[in-house]
Amino acid sequence: MSSSFILELLILLLTVGFILYKLFTRNFDYWEKRNVPYPKPTPFFGNYYNIMTFQTTIGHDIKKLYDEFTTPYFGIFVLNKPHLVVKDQELIKSILVKDFNNFYDRTVLSSEECDAIFANALFVVRNPDWKVLRAKMTPVFTSGKMKAMFPLINDASLEMITYLEQHSSKSSLEAKDICAKYSTDVIATCAFGIQACSFKNENSEFRVTCKRMFDFSFSSAFRQVSYFILPDLVKLLRLSFFKPEVMDFFRDVFWKTIKLREKTKGKRNDLIDIIIQMKEQPDNSIDFSGDKVVAQAFMFFAAGFETTSSTMAFTLYELCLSPEIQSRARAEVKEILSKYKGFTYEAIKEMKYMHMLFCETLRKYPVLPFLDRICANDYKLPDTDLVVEKGTPVYIPVSGIHYDPEFYTEPEKYDPERFSEENRGRIPNFAHLPFGGGPRNCIGERFGLLVGKLGLARILSEYELERSLDTPVPLEYETKCLILASKVGLPMKFKKILSDAV
Ligand code: HEM
Repeated sequence: MSSSFILELLILLLTVGFILYKLFTRNFDYWEKRNVPYPKPTPFFGNYYNIMTFQTTIGHDIKKLYDEFTTPYFGIFVLNKPHLVVKDQELIKSILVKDFNNFYDRTVLSSEECDAIFANALFVVRNPDWKVLRAKMTPVFTSGKMKAMFPLINDASLEMITYLEQHSSKSSLEAKDICAKYSTDVIATCAFGIQACSFKNENSEFRVTCKRMFDFSFSSAFRQVSYFILPDLVKLLRLSFFKPEVMDFFRDVFWKTIKLREKTKGKRNDLIDIIIQMKEQPDNSIDFSGDKVVAQAFMFFAAGFETTSSTMAFTLYELCLSPEIQSRARAEVKEILSKYKGFTYEAIKEMKYMHMLFCETLRKYPVLPFLDRICANDYKLPDTDLVVEKGTPVYIPVSGIHYDPEFYTEPEKYDPERFSEENRGRIPNFAHLPFGGGPRNCIGERFGLLVGKLGLARILSEYELERSLDTPVPLEYETKCLILASKVGLPMKFKKILSDAV
């Protein structure tokens, strides 16, 4: 190789490097020009270097920045793109509720070409389709429908207890895995009308597919993070959000179930019944066919499976570390079960301390550590000089807010009393956001809580939870996923209560 060739190659590489550097740093004066404080960005990565190199989770990084900045809002750069992070309670209320008409979509890419099912799931779909779909899906979550689905959920919780009976002699069981099996079974039966049998068969198709959805592999992490921050790359590579085999599985199972149900005209009080009803009453405002329909059942899984099982598992984790809180929770379960003579929808609804536990778990472990919205039109932030430009992504830093000592004294402490009737009034409305807020909040909140509370009540009524040698204290979090998860799962001892069972 001649020296002139090496020199030319070097010049070429330097020129390309320089152009890329300029391209990826061209916006780095954006917040400076608008007088908005911001952390110093790194070329190519912006403020996401630690996240993109999987050294930390988005939640922990956002919390760190939340603590660093004392201003009502601050800017960050996600790669080269400016994002606004809003801390102030009144401003959060404006974005989520008062001025929702300007913040109705999320930032995650919705692309039919890359992933038709994901693009049409309620969490992802953009306006105007979102408005129509949300109205269509809202009746699925009324108390009447929840109550009708209760027997299906109850059956799944019994499967879990049978499993525990067979395995609780072990010195340690993985609580996250048990909760994931339970929520897989619940969602499969409620949304797809199918018995997933995750407890009976470790390798059941549903269980294996669900595991694949949120595995911590590099390829899953790359796909999912890219949907939020590298939409152009997703479009270029035509990536689906979940692996293609996951989507094919759901599409196939869904249509088989619909066809069978339409043929047999059977009713199960599940989502499939409701979807068939929707298909039979066509609505001109939206094309409700093909993958748009599959997306609504799939959404139960994508948005409900991991969130519900994580919340339940983190609650079990805290209870195994706090015997007093656990005893109080068990006492309530026993009292209410004897009043209602067993596990009923009404019994679960009446468990107030159980509700406090879930509120505190979701404060300490918010499954989605931040909320995001896109600014639809130039918008002047109330009582400030800042005009947020159309298209700017806005984050609400949930994990930072949930650990802010102004709202929660000793934020690291697990203390359900914060949510007692006397105390909960002291928490500002937008300082507890595990289910988001405003018209685009979580549609499945009541369903998720019902499933989690029933599962936990079943376990507490028959098992004592104890820390085992492999229970991780303190927790280390998985960095290769968007949601909050322990790196090593949540193993603990499930000890059968012999004399005192309900
Ligand atoms: C403990 C369990 C759950 C937690 C912590 C949770 C949390 C959340 C959060 C934080 C959001 C974003 C809200 C916002 O941006 O303001 C959300 C949205 C959503 N969740 Fe949940 N969720 C849970 C269970 C469920 C379940 C069981 C389902 C379905 C059966 C579900 C379906 C959805 C859907 C469809 C959305 C998007 C709503 C929309 O854009 O209109 N979630 N959830």
